[in-house]
Amino acid sequence: MTFRIGIVGAGFLTRRSLLPAIAATDDLCLAAVLDTDPVALGAVAARFPGALCGADARDFLRTPLDGVHVATPNRRHAEFACQALARGIPTLVEKPLADTVDAGQWIFRAAMASGAPAMVGYMSRYNAYNRAVVALIRSGELGPARSMTASHLGHRDGDWRNRRADSGLGCLADLAIYPLLTAADVFDAAPTACRATGYPSGDPDRTDIFVEATVWFGDERRLQMEASFTEAPGVGVSRYTVVCERGLVVVRDSWAMDSGGSVLVCDERGRRWLWPEPVDPYLAQYRALAACAAGEPVPTGVSIARGLRDLRVLHALDRSVANGGVRLALSGGQNP
Ligand SMILES: NC(=O)c1ccc[n+]([C@@H]2O[C@H](COP(=O)([O-])OP(=O)(O)OC[C@H]3O[C@@H](n4cnc5c(N)ncnc54)[C@H](O)[C@@H]3O)[C@@H](O)[C@H]2O)c1
Repeated sequence: MTFRIGIVGAGFLTRRSLLPAIAATDDLCLAAVLDTDPVALGAVAARFPGALCGADARDFLRTPLDGVHVATPNRRHAEFACQALARGIPTLVEKPLADTVDAGQWIFRAAMASGAPAMVGYMSRYNAYNRAVVALIRSGELGPARSMTASHLGHRDGDWRNRRADSGLGCLADLAIYPLLTAADVFDAAPTACRATGYPSGDPDRTDIFVEATVWFGDERRLQMEASFTEAPGVGVSRYTVVCERGLVVVRDSWAMDSGGSVLVCDERGRRWLWPEPVDPYLAQYRALAACAAGEPVPTGVSIARGLRDLRVLHALDRSVANGGVRLALSGGQNP
């Protein structure tokens, strides 16, 4: 059976990654796209003449859809996710879950009230290299994971991600979210405390363009990370190292949008590379949504509850930045 997808937002993510994933397989079909920008709509219509491409949300929601993917700027996530869920349509909401914690809670409540499954778009969870790292660490071969150090850096200047009203947070929401969710997987634990410094701090209009942060997962384990929008155009840095009791893992490029990565393992046996079979994370994500629409439970790691928990941590980091790097306790220590 073909799974009919409707996408809200025909911007960079949609054209760069979502449309190629849909086009690559027969079990998915693009049924409708909603956007307010005629140029963006025209670009999609040229590639998918069978899809309804328009700016009217009622027409979009009247189209028979098996799933809706919300891929707008963060400020519009709640509005479209709640509309789709109210109609009982399985819904995938891009990361971060929303611009504000309040908006994230609206999505959470809409998901609870809806009979339909809802997921957050954590594509890095499907990346084969991240999965290989988590599997290796969970196997216990390297002993318990003690710390993770991460850099996720890029270039964003002058777009909606730089405006608090449209994005909520800057590099925290856009880039630091990846180390945060990978660390929760690696440690298999929830964050318990955090602190951060960054720039600008406490600005009502501009979002953060650089943040360095510490997130504790209990007293013993911690993530030390930096995220920034200050690289040269076209440059992206994605790198993390996990130090375990009997070895370490160095991972590059596994948060990038191209399915790639590399994993170097160093332990008493020497150095070796892991080469898992790459998978298209966007295609895997759509297959997961289709499986949940068919009755499988939503995996915890991509649940709306997890998306909301991560959003709370990111906003706590933002508060820490605004308060000179103060350490903040995080409540809700379970690992949904
Ligand atoms: N998972 C990933 O790999 C990944 C990568 C990039 C972006 N994202 C996320 O995807 C979302 C979109 O990011 P992007 O880079 O594609 O942004 P973008 O600005 O390139 O595209 C957003 C699109 O939404 C449209 N839009 C804005 N308001 C709208 C409205 N009210 N109704 C309908 N359409 C509207 C815009 O016209 C634009 O075409 C963000 O939440 C971002 O964080 C995720």
